[in-house]
Amino acid sequence: MIKYIGSKRRLVPTIVELCQRASAGRPGVALDLFSGTSRVGHALKREGWRVLSCDSNAYAYTLATCYVQADRERVLGHAARLITELQAIAPKAGYFTETFCERSRFIHPTNGARIDAIRERIASLSLEPVLERVVLVSLMEAADRVDSTTGVQMAYLKSWAPRAHKTLELRTPDVLPRAARGAGLAFQGDVLDACDWFGAFAPDADVAYLDPPYNQHSYLGNYHVWESLVRWDKPEVYGIACKRVDCRTRKSRFNSRPKIESAIAEVIGRVRAKTVILSFNDEGMVSRERIEAMLSERFGHEPVVVEHEGNRYVGAKIGIHNPRGQRVGTVGRLRNCEYLFVAGAGAEAMRSELVAA
Ligand SMILES: C[S@@+](CC[C@H](N)C(=O)[O-])C[C@H]1O[C@@H](n2cnc3c(N)ncnc32)[C@H](O)[C@@H]1O
Repeated sequence: MIKYIGSKRRLVPTIVELCQRASAGRPGVALDLFSGTSRVGHALKREGWRVLSCDSNAYAYTLATCYVQADRERVLGHAARLITELQAIAPKAGYFTETFCERSRFIHPTNGARIDAIRERIASLSLEPVLERVVLVSLMEAADRVDSTTGVQMAYLKSWAPRAHKTLELRTPDVLPRAARGAGLAFQGDVLDACDWFGAFAPDADVAYLDPPYNQHSYLGNYHVWESLVRWDKPEVYGIACKRVDCRTRKSRFNSRPKIESAIAEVIGRVRAKTVILSFNDEGMVSRERIEAMLSERFGHEPVVVEHEGNRYVGAKIGIHNPRGQRVGTVGRLRNCEYLFVAGAGAEAMRSELVAA
């Protein structure tokens, strides 16, 4: 899976366990409403859960289509054959190479020319949408393995990362078989629309997992190269990082200090699920106390809070530099605490287990 800031890689086993407890150990229906890499939805699908995912960005929707909506038995044979064919295509530099390998330097031009040729071929095939997204995930993940960043696309490294010199290699994504509880679904759009849509579609959801952004940095700006690769709309770009011009206008309320609290409150008020599990950390723009208060108001009881200490994003270790690469700031703290707030039926069950123990 791609490198992704805020991805719940280390927390996935705990999140899956909390979901299982909330549904008395049986696979249920889960809403993953800020799906990002889809690693949470993928892990739940593996356990038999029916997962409905939402994210506002096209690259995340593409990942969710591959990891929660696509079913192995329906797409993988065709996808694997196509990926083998695409791997053999001759390189041909175009928009991607010029924009992201020459004007900026996220990927080495040798790999850029292969990405251009493969992406053009995918576009020319007019594939069925789910199959196309599985193949695009293979390309995005291959590009991610040879990128020259610290994990975000606001900037690239001054000199090529050693992995940037490796040859781009397409691999077949780990598409899972249809889950025991039913077909998954990916939705691209705002989380509030997803709350209404999934509310009508799956009013009996067992768990809603909410993992909103924690700070002012937009995910579209952080992963604009993947957005352009997936959309293949060859947009105008600006700045040293060659961001898509729509990074200036496609803003999320969850990245805004004045708006995030009311945005989280609105999602908590609107989502329909028996249990809500919400991720946040101690550096987020909303305090633990405020989130506890919002969940208490909606469910009529205080949430259970599971704490998890971890390392911060690698950029925190590298420190703050000016555009000439000189260190200009001090490194902040290197550890933080992730909170998982559990409210609703799952929290009641956890409390009664604790009392019985
Ligand atoms: C912390 S990340 C989620 C990480 C994910 N759980 C994972 O493990 O990879 C937050 C996600 O929220 C998405 N997002 C931001 N604003 C949104 C909105 N208004 N509606 C839906 N998704 C949004 C971002 O694109 C980003 O992928």
